[in-house]
Parts: sequence; C-alpha cells; structure tokens
Amino acid sequence: MTTHVLEVDQLVGGYRGVEVVRDISFEVSEGEVVALLGPNGSGKTTTLLTIAGLIRPIGGTVRVLGRPIGREATSRIARRGMVMVPDDRGLFGELSVADTLRVAQRSRVGKTDDVVELLPALRPLWRRKVALLSGGEQQMVALAAALVRRPRLLMLDEMSLGLAPQIVTGLLAAVRSMADRDGTGVLLVEQHARVALGASDCAIVLRHGEIALAGGSDDVGVRLEAGESSYLGGSAEAAAKSSSVKNLS
Ligand SMILES: Nc1ncnc2c1ncn2[C@@H]1O[C@H](COP(=O)(O)OP(=O)(O)OP(=O)(O)O)[C@@H](O)[C@H]1O
Ligand SMILES: [Mg+2]
Repeated sequence: MTTHVLEVDQLVGGYRGVEVVRDISFEVSEGEVVALLGPNGSGKTTTLLTIAGLIRPIGGTVRVLGRPIGREATSRIARRGMVMVPDDRGLFGELSVADTLRVAQRSRVGKTDDVVELLPALRPLWRRKVALLSGGEQQMVALAAALVRRPRLLMLDEMSLGLAPQIVTGLLAAVRSMADRDGTGVLLVEQHARVALGASDCAIVLRHGEIALAGGSDDVGVRLEAGESSYLGGSAEAAAKSSSVKNLS
C-alpha cells in the first residue's frame, strides 16, 4: 500500500482572508519527489507555508503523515517528521558547518555520516563559518541540515535562488538519493523548471494561484516545451529575481 506523507485537498490559502491559492489538490507518497513550479507570484511559497502551518488555511484540508494539520503549530507538525527549508535558507552565519549540522540533528554529526557522503563537498568546509561560505555552499549546508533530521516530508523552497543550474543539479541528486534510500517524500519548489523536472517523479505547475498543469514530470516537461502553459522558468528569470532581492536587502 502506498503511504502518503502529504495529502492536500482543495486547499485555499492566502493572507488575512485574501485568497492567493485556490483548489489545490495533490499528494506526495513516500519516496516520491514532486516539483511545484510556476512563475513568480503564482503561489508556490504560499502553498508551502500553508502546509507547514506557518499561515492558516482559508479552506480545504492538509494531511501530513495521515493526520489533518487543522490549526496545529508548525513545531507539532515538524515533530511528525516535516522539515522545510525556506527560500532564505534559515542558517545562522556565526555557526560552523559542523555545528549547524549538530544543532539540526541534536547530536554530533561526523564527516562520515551518510548525509555527508551524499554531499561530499561539505568535508573541506567543515570548520568554516556559514556566513563566509558562497551562496551555493550555504545552500548545500541548508540542505544537509534538513537531511540529517531524516525528514519523512521534506519541503524545499527555491534551493536554486541565484545559483547556477549545475549546482542545483548536484543538490537535487542528493535529494533524489535520500528519497530513494530512506523513502523521504519531497515537495520541491524550483525556478529551474528543467532541472526540477529531471529530478522529480511528478510535477505541478501553478498559474495565478491555481493548478494549470499536473502529471508525471516527463509528461509535464513535454507539455511545457510544447507551450501548453505560457510558463517555463529559466535561469534568466531566476537571476533577475535574485539580484532584485539582493538590492532590497
Ligand atoms: N505576507 C503576504 N501578505 C500578503 N500577500 C502576500 C504575502 N506573501 C505573498 N503575498 C502575495 O501572494 C501571491 C503569491 O506569492 P508567493 O510568494 O506564494 O508566490 P511564489 O510563487 O512563491 O513566487 P516567487 O517565485 O516569486 O517566490 C503574490 O501576489 C504575493 O504578492
Ligand atoms: Mg516563492
């Protein structure tokens, strides 16, 4: 029997009663990687924040590991095995890589831990302060900090922000291995649509807060290339976005 780590049924989400996403229904099974795609402002982050209990659903239901989240606090949902990596990475710059992983796992993480084996480029960075790492290196640390917690549901918001597609491909390969090996279910928001489609089993494309396309990743890829939805996220769009974010901060 397939075990669903996430079931979203007719979800309506938004801010202060104003609907941003509507009629969102999909599932993530154990070991499955689902890509959530769509142009800027289409509601990807809002969907993730609602599933994580960080904003209250306006309507519909979300079940994490078989139980509805209702009005549960994020910390309680997290205890069931949900981990979310936000788009700002959520790291403490003053900590070393080793300490970041120790805090995440609540015990010492050795360089031989299998998460480090999945991301071997962490080894030479082990004692370095996170603040002094490059964007791609920081993203790798954020991903490792999520993986050492052995999530059953892992949600990743735009790992690629400002990163080259090759780096994203490497990070997604580690995510794929974790899903295959440990049965982690993954919901992945990505700007680099082609990279995400290559690493995922299924894909959902949002447009104006609603599902415009959904299906197997290969099929969705073909339909996007054929122009069925006006969207195909590219690196130029992602780069433009990351530079505007940097200018604001
Ligand atoms: N805190 C907030 N309060 C009110 N509206 C918000 C808030 N956060 C986002 N929105 C609005 O909700 C809509 C969807 O935003 P969301 O961040 O979910 O999009 P996204 O698909 O993640 O976009 P991006 O690719 O740029 O990250 C946008 O119109 C945005 O302006
Ligand atoms: Mg977003």
